Order: sequence, then structure tokens, then C-alpha cells
Amino acid sequence: MSCLRVFGGFPLEGEIKIQGSKNAVLPMMAAALLVPGEVRFENCPDIADVRAMAVLLEKLGAAVKLEGGILTINASGAHPVFLDEKDMADTRGCILLLGALAARFGEAAVSHPGGCVIGKRPVDLHLFALKQLGANLSGEDVIRCERSCLKGAEVVFPMPSVGATQNALLAAVLADGVTWIHNAAREPEVLHLCNFLNAAGADITGMGTSHLCIRGVKKLSPVCYRVPADRIVAGTYMAAVLCAGGRVFLREAGGDELLAVTRPLKAAGAAIRVLADGILVEKKRRLRAFDYIKTEPYPGFPTDMQSQFLVLAALAEGVCVIEETIFEARFGIVPELKKMGAQIYVEENKAVVEGQESLTGRMLCGRDLRGTAALVLAALSAKGESVVGGMEYLERGYENFVQSLGRLGARVREEGL
Ligand code: UD1
Repeated sequence: MSCLRVFGGFPLEGEIKIQGSKNAVLPMMAAALLVPGEVRFENCPDIADVRAMAVLLEKLGAAVKLEGGILTINASGAHPVFLDEKDMADTRGCILLLGALAARFGEAAVSHPGGCVIGKRPVDLHLFALKQLGANLSGEDVIRCERSCLKGAEVVFPMPSVGATQNALLAAVLADGVTWIHNAAREPEVLHLCNFLNAAGADITGMGTSHLCIRGVKKLSPVCYRVPADRIVAGTYMAAVLCAGGRVFLREAGGDELLAVTRPLKAAGAAIRVLADGILVEKKRRLRAFDYIKTEPYPGFPTDMQSQFLVLAALAEGVCVIEETIFEARFGIVPELKKMGAQIYVEENKAVVEGQESLTGRMLCGRDLRGTAALVLAALSAKGESVVGGMEYLERGYENFVQSLGRLGARVREEGL
């Protein structure tokens, strides 16, 4: 367990290369189970969630190596083994192994996945999709798939789910016949998985829309794929600059994927320029309060940026309302921000935030990945010193966060508890 000591009030200056995307690479790692031979990922982030997924793939018999941003997976010798509660505790992404195992072996046994505690996070939509494709599923705490031969089918989701759409894709690429996924999630990480699978020989069309068509192919082939930049990490650094002040170039950050984030920031007075090879962000003045922010499925405002925006709202001029519609327990940092002097009133899934000139450094404790990152941003902006606990959450998704902030000029020091 470690915590971060932050001395607030130092602006960030310089350039940072945005790491590869966690939520893009995790499903691709599960997809590697479907490929005979070695799959190579470039620009792979070295983060705890990727390492946790690598351990699971190794347990399933795959050879996995992560070195210098290159991840190789050879799952030729894989075999289905039971993944228990402890195996599945570390990352939500490991539920994607269910679809891949069902597709490759017709059998699997996995416990319910862990991940951040931001709401109930059921897996009923994952199971629904796999059943439609012919998976013979049973069990509650442990989900078992037995003697299943997957076949193309029509999957109509009652609501879009990123993970369930990805699981359905993994199950469908090698299934006999044609699969339609309706009301599919349109998040870029679904698109990236489709692009990866197509590069490996799959036949998927409709990418980027709510209707995906997958024509089953006999086999996939080894491929080398570059993991795209992490839009949430880019958004987090953008918010960091707007909290701490300064001017930073976010190399490889994609403008289109971040429109729902950059649009309200620009309207609130942030200087953001999308260039060919990244995004330049500068704080020239105190932000004005944003218009109403509501988290929604892509292309709406991402729930994974909600905590960071709470901090920005706490510092903006005026009153903001932020509504969370995706996860039911995602205002966990509010009591911590209030300790720093933030004026936030939460009623059900809405937070009303009255911005203050400044926050004050305090002892803070993060309890989930994005919330902990947001507390670090609050501490960077604050008067005086803060200590942020929960760094183990941060390490799940941010590569070298502390070192990167340090290089940009933040006064931060990691300490043991
Ligand atoms: C993924 C991301 C997460 C992000 C989220 C929403 C990964 C590893 N994680 O999570 O960072 O915050 O998308 O953009 O990629 N739901 C059900 N039943 C299900 C599945 C989901 O009711 O079987 C509900 C969830 O509780 C939530 C909503 O659907 O309310 C959306 O969740 P989903 O899109 O599935 O998120 P994840 O794939 O878990």
C-alpha cells in the first residue's frame, strides 16, 4: 500500500505521450485466445489490469510476455481451467474470457468478476448474449459453460453494454453462420476490438454503429496490432492541466473520441487545440461552470471522466449540475472533496457543485481507479499539502502517473503507508 504526497499549486508544463488504452487492450488480450500462434501488441500499457489479465491467460496455458510496451501472447497451448473468485477479483475485463473460452473450447468456468466498486455491475447481458449464441450456461456465483457449439444468432440488447457487446463479438467471430448484434455499444473500445479481430481475419461490419454483423470464419491468424491511445487517460491529463494550471501537449491523444469531453471544457473557457498528432491544452483563466453534464453511452459524456469533472466543477466559477446515469455509486469522492472545501450537494444521481476559488490540501482516500486520479487532480490544484491514499487503484489504469506528473512539474512524492 502506498500513498501520494502532493504539494499543490505548481503548474504543469511540457509534453506527455498518452499511453495505450486499458479498455481497448483487455478485450484484445481475451481475443488472443482465439488466435493460433503469436499475437503481438505494440504500445501496450504496463498497468496492473493488464498484468492481472496476463496472469489469467498464463493460468489458461498461454505464453505471455510484456516488455518495453510490447505484449506478446501465444495461446496455442491453452486449455480451459476454472478461474475462481480470487483470479477474477482484480479486473472487470476478465469476464471477457468467458466469451473467448466458450468460442474456443465450448466450455468454461469463471467466477463473477471484480473491478472497481462503482455500482452493482451485473453480467446478465453478457450471459444473455452468449446464450443466444448457443452457450449452455449454468450457475450463479460460478458461471459454467458446458458442451457448447456456438452458432450465429440475432442478439438484441435491451441496453448498450460495452463488455457484453465485446463478449458477444468474441463468441461470434468463429461461430458457424451470421450473427447480428443490435443495440451494440458504440464506444471506441468496441470499434478497436472489431478492428483487431478483422486484422486477424474476422469478418465484422457495421463498426461504430449500434448494429454489428459478424460472419463467422473458420479461423483467425496471428497479427501485430498497435493499441490506440487511452482517451480517458488523455482526458485525465487534460483535467490535470485545468486544475493545476500550465500548458501541456498530449501526444497521440485523439480529438474525435474526446469530443464529449473537450466540447464542455472549451465552452467553459479552456484553451484546447486538437492537432494532427495530439491535443494542446492550456489554462489561461479560471473555468466558468459547465452546462449540465450527464454521463451517457458513447458518443455521450463518458462516466469514466465524471470524477475528474467533479473536481473541475468544484473549482469553476458558478454552479454546475453533473448527472450520473451509468453507474449508481459513482460519487464516492464527494466526501473527500468536501473535506477540501468543495461545495457539493448530492441528491440521488445528481451532484450540484458550487465552484470555489480554491481547495485546501487534506488527507484523502481514493476507493476506485478514476476517483483516485480525480483526488490527485484536486490535490494538485489545492493550497498546501495533501496525502492521497488508494494508489493501488491508480496503478490499475495509469502507467507511471506519478513520474509523468513529476516530469511535468508537479511536486508529488510516493510514500509507503
Ligand atoms: C466498461 C469499461 C468502464 C466504463 C464502462 C462504461 C472496461 C473494462 N470497462 O465497463 O471503464 O466505465 O464500460 O463506459 O472496458 N450492465 C448490466 N448488465 C450487464 C452489463 C452491464 O446491467 O450484463 C449495466 C451496468 O451496470 C451499467 C451499464 O450496463 O449500468 C453499462 O455498463 P457496461 O457498458 O457494461 O460497462 P463495462 O463493460 O462493465
